[in-house]
Amino acid sequence: MIYFDNAATSFPKPDVVYDSIMKAMKEYGANPGRSGHKLALRIGREIFETRELLAKLFNVGNPMNIIFTSNCTESLNLGIKGVLKRGDHVITTSMEHNSVLRPISVLKSQGVEVTIIEGDSMGRIDPSKIKKNIKENTKLIINTHVSNLTGTIMPVKLIGKIAKDNGIYYLVDAAQSAGVYDIDVDEMNIDILAFPGHKGLLGPQGTGGLYIRDGLNIREMKQGGTGSVSHLLEQPEMFPDRYESGTHNGPGIVGLGEGVRYIFKEGIGNIRKYEEELTKHFVEEVLKIDNVKVYGPLDVEERGAVVPINIGNEDSSEISYILDSKYDIEVRPGLHCAPMAHKTIGTFEQGVVRFSFGPFNTHKEIEFAVKAIKEISREI
Ligand code: ALA
Repeated sequence: MIYFDNAATSFPKPDVVYDSIMKAMKEYGANPGRSGHKLALRIGREIFETRELLAKLFNVGNPMNIIFTSNCTESLNLGIKGVLKRGDHVITTSMEHNSVLRPISVLKSQGVEVTIIEGDSMGRIDPSKIKKNIKENTKLIINTHVSNLTGTIMPVKLIGKIAKDNGIYYLVDAAQSAGVYDIDVDEMNIDILAFPGHKGLLGPQGTGGLYIRDGLNIREMKQGGTGSVSHLLEQPEMFPDRYESGTHNGPGIVGLGEGVRYIFKEGIGNIRKYEEELTKHFVEEVLKIDNVKVYGPLDVEERGAVVPINIGNEDSSEISYILDSKYDIEVRPGLHCAPMAHKTIGTFEQGVVRFSFGPFNTHKEIEFAVKAIKEISREI
């Protein structure tokens, strides 16, 4: 089986991730921050270590500014709904995932003004269009770092500067970039960073996080037990407790920490370079096949390891079904929860067959997939 659906979730994970989760569950799977016994302290320490590793990865000074969530969607909901209120204006782009566009749509119905900047046919966003649309009440700019449809790498640093110069908060959706692309929240002027644990960071599903810059008063989405200031009925203000009510996904967060350790050990630059090589190999070869269309920028400097294609006018789900059933190749067809991005690049009706590569894919697998695509394109 060849797994080319790493943009949905990375698979497989490094062995150390599986082992650490099992060990946490079997040997110290207690509840952190509640009881003061040895096992609770141990899992609490391990969770803190994951916070420290993530803080180091994103150049966050204080690990307590990293909040754990259950996925990037939850992080985005917290970041978006916790900041915006009636009368505020938000700028985002047509290249966003529904995890941005749907919360914004709800807020729009509650009196938040919304401007959506259109991408071009390659999925690129022009920062000057964002600048031109800033108004007095613009409170937040949101965009993805790497498109989950076209793989387009967005000019985060330039947009971050625009946000900072205009006193606007900047939220980046790092769903497809965390763990593969360098993210420095200071250098990029990112105030809020939403990331999944189970994609490029190589942790398990059920993990994710949000970085919140000091001084930002983001409303929490849930209240409950935190194991701290328990004599009060009010939610504590302190980070990360304010946002982390309820029992943590301890073993999952331990596994996520191991994923991040693996990235440091291998080197994020090496992982990215390898994925770029795989992407370049695939793009160059499929472009040679008659009847195949590749979307997004062709230069790997401008794109992540996400490559959408179509074969003729064939329905993307049909091609994906053939790849799975006949060739054992796993990809994602359809709309990828990004309908506006599909409209932007003109694939809303047909969808696309999305190939997305990870650190455990090989050039041999790419060759096999190219051969399969050639055969399918001849047969349909
Ligand atoms: N957001 C994930 C994807 O693009 C699930 O497939």
